[in-house]
Amino acid sequence: METKAFRIYKFGGTGEMKWETVDVPKPGRGEVLLRHTVVGLNLADTYRRTGLYPMPLPNGMGNEAVGVVEAVGPGVRALKVGDRVGYIGGQTFDAYSKRRVAKVAGLIPLPKYINDRTAAAALLKGITAQYLLRDAYRVKRGDTILVHAAAGGVGLIMCQWAKAIGATVIGTVSTEEKARIAKRNGCHHPIVVKRKGPKFAKKVRELTNGEGVHCVYDSVGKETWEESLASVRLRGSVINFGSASGNPPLTNIAATGPLGSPYIARCALVNYTTSRKETMARADDLFAAIKKGHVKIRVNQRYALKDAAKAHRDIEGRRTTGQTILIP
Ligand SMILES: NC(=O)c1ccc[n+]([C@@H]2O[C@H](COP(=O)([O-])OP(=O)(O)OC[C@H]3O[C@@H](n4cnc5c(N)ncnc54)[C@H](OP(=O)(O)O)[C@@H]3O)[C@@H](O)[C@H]2O)c1
Repeated sequence: METKAFRIYKFGGTGEMKWETVDVPKPGRGEVLLRHTVVGLNLADTYRRTGLYPMPLPNGMGNEAVGVVEAVGPGVRALKVGDRVGYIGGQTFDAYSKRRVAKVAGLIPLPKYINDRTAAAALLKGITAQYLLRDAYRVKRGDTILVHAAAGGVGLIMCQWAKAIGATVIGTVSTEEKARIAKRNGCHHPIVVKRKGPKFAKKVRELTNGEGVHCVYDSVGKETWEESLASVRLRGSVINFGSASGNPPLTNIAATGPLGSPYIARCALVNYTTSRKETMARADDLFAAIKKGHVKIRVNQRYALKDAAKAHRDIEGRRTTGQTILIP
């Protein structure tokens, strides 16, 4: 069978994204054939396109999608034709396609009350928010946290969820409009960050009576890292989990003593979804947060999958807010 899919042969700009006709094999043992209904867009898709996050080439693109099972391979009992499933990694990078063969072990069955669009928008970003807020640093009622890119895909989910837990959320954004969006979604104190000069650490100190926050969640990296270290309270946590402005510099660990001995980590989804059991537990926690209304998924952008290059330019150009989906 043939399908349409994006392939890349060379790292680079969006011109390297090739929309091609490709063969889809029959599903093998432990695999199913999926027809994608909605694909999730993630900033990390652009890092893999440029090579910031290296991967072997040639390759497909994307690692988050939702679809319907169209055929099952030998030995598959957990799923049947017609079942709705989603995934976040655990597969090859072939989410930017109309159809694909996927390993059953990496698939997440979807509850009836989560529609395909919500699932594709929420799974990767929501499970990331879940492990960051529940594990990487466990946010408690009464904590104050700092979330960068607060109006973004992961950011809007984190703001809402942390507020529901009972934390005070300070967020950074680049525009007044994004500040309004973050505020409507649980961010108590949005800070509009200027491109040049001091950005947010002084304001964070003012908002926390000079103490600093319990945890900084930094997905911006290079441009924010030094001030993130200056925004944390005594023995707080500074977690980097993304590189929107480039990778953060390697910190001189001895220099962090005078900053209050913060706990520093670079967190990656793959290290918090190490088994099917762990991934499903996080997905169930996310689904429950959506069901209770603690987290509302904000699909603010939608593109045809074949226009994914435009979606890449918009997310890289900071023109998106909340979650973005691609329709095959
Ligand atoms: N480690 C993990 O497990 C994991 C998993 C998922 C996502 N992530 C990371 O989480 C972050 C958010 O991902 P997302 O897909 O939801 O994207 P997103 O937040 O919707 O988009 C990225 C945002 O980053 C901000 N930003 C700051 N400096 C930037 C720069 N120089 N260039 C471009 N954007 C810049 C922009 O917001 P402002 O304009 O408001 O600054 C932009 O809207 C990404 O860094 C991603 O890599 C990590």
